[in-house]
Amino acid sequence: MKNALITGITGQDGSYLAELLLEKGYNVYGIMRRKSVVDYGNVDHIKDKINFIYADMTDVISLINAMIISQADEVYNLAAQSFVATSWEQPIATADINALGVTNMLEAIRTVKPSAHFYQASTSEMFGLVQEIPQKETTPFYPRSPYGVAKLYGHWITKNYRESYNLYACSGILFNHESERRGKEFVTRKITDAVVRIKLGVQDHLELGNMDSKRDWGHSKDYVKAMWLMLQQETPDDYVIATNETRTVREFVEIAFNHVGITVEWQGTGVDEIGIDKTTGKTIVKINPKFFRPAEVDILLGDPTKAETVLGWKREIPFANLVERMVKNDMELVTREIKISKLN
Ligand code: NAP
Ligand code: GDD
Repeated sequence: MKNALITGITGQDGSYLAELLLEKGYNVYGIMRRKSVVDYGNVDHIKDKINFIYADMTDVISLINAMIISQADEVYNLAAQSFVATSWEQPIATADINALGVTNMLEAIRTVKPSAHFYQASTSEMFGLVQEIPQKETTPFYPRSPYGVAKLYGHWITKNYRESYNLYACSGILFNHESERRGKEFVTRKITDAVVRIKLGVQDHLELGNMDSKRDWGHSKDYVKAMWLMLQQETPDDYVIATNETRTVREFVEIAFNHVGITVEWQGTGVDEIGIDKTTGKTIVKINPKFFRPAEVDILLGDPTKAETVLGWKREIPFANLVERMVKNDMELVTREIKISKLN
């Protein structure tokens, strides 16, 4: 039985990866931050099957301790301050966790168990102001946020430890991936949650920032399979994981509303653009400039050919199904919430 250590286990990807590794018979360890109210996040349903270790990415001693306890054969470094918008508000914490935190984890591995295989959660945000379309492993980086800059450090330090110390260290350059477990601050879940609330009459309208921005959206469940595959190869390497399809935020809004039987019609431009319910004439989408970012990543479109060829990885959940699943899940959650609030 192999031991796996997952940092960021309470997050979206951590939860799907934990499920995958448990299915494969791994002994799963996960690091958790101490909180005033104990919260297992997205792994609450499988918490009894996971060995939790209190640690923090900014505290190398706690990571050394996590390596000693877990004796991990595979380490998946998913912990991060992962919300791009927050990285302008907390640039130092973002760098501590997303950049130096990676060195902390690599040092802990080097000190305790250098034979462990290491996965680093790199990101398409590193491509930022994209230098070519589609983006692949050889595309030059140009990050556009403190988050992207910090992640680029994490990416290069992973490569550097592979070359300096011969560690089995891989970076997965993952494009946006979403799910029913996505945090509600990210645009896709913000949209699906609002769409069902508007449909059920408990929210008036949805406020968004830049609807022209384009993203390559996949499902997290597919993407964690790629992480595992990367650590099973003869030699460590870096891979782009993406769907090779891109859509605007506006298109996501339209499709999500379609799933609850609402057709959106657009009027106006720029900050004055609004989305109207075609049947009722009511304004259901507005622009709020507070959601604009100081610097934007306009388009992401990934080329996953290397992962498909070398790893045999394949995306299984198509975009239409991703949106459908997210809307359906939010419909169940919000309906339950409304029922409970009526009982109280
Ligand atoms: P997520 O849901 O925000 O999860 C982040 C996890 O990191 C949470 O478990 C969080 O724990 C933990 N964490 C944050 N700061 C920490 C610290 N100082 N010490 C220990 N743990 C800490 O993110 P995700 O979407 O699953 O993404 C997983 C990883 O992939 C992240 O590194 C992200 O940057 C990267 N990535 C994501 C995408 C995407 O589209 N989802 C694409 C490319 C790369 P708490 O529960 O305590 O907050
Ligand atoms: N969050 C949010 N909220 N984004 C909005 C909004 C809004 O109200 N309105 C428009 N957007 C636009 C953002 O400006 C951005 O261009 C796009 O929607 C996607 O934003 P997010 O869903 O917050 O994700 P992200 O692309 O910035 O970052 C995610 O993907 C990265 C990979 O490319 C995160 O998961 C990162 O951790 C990940 O590395």
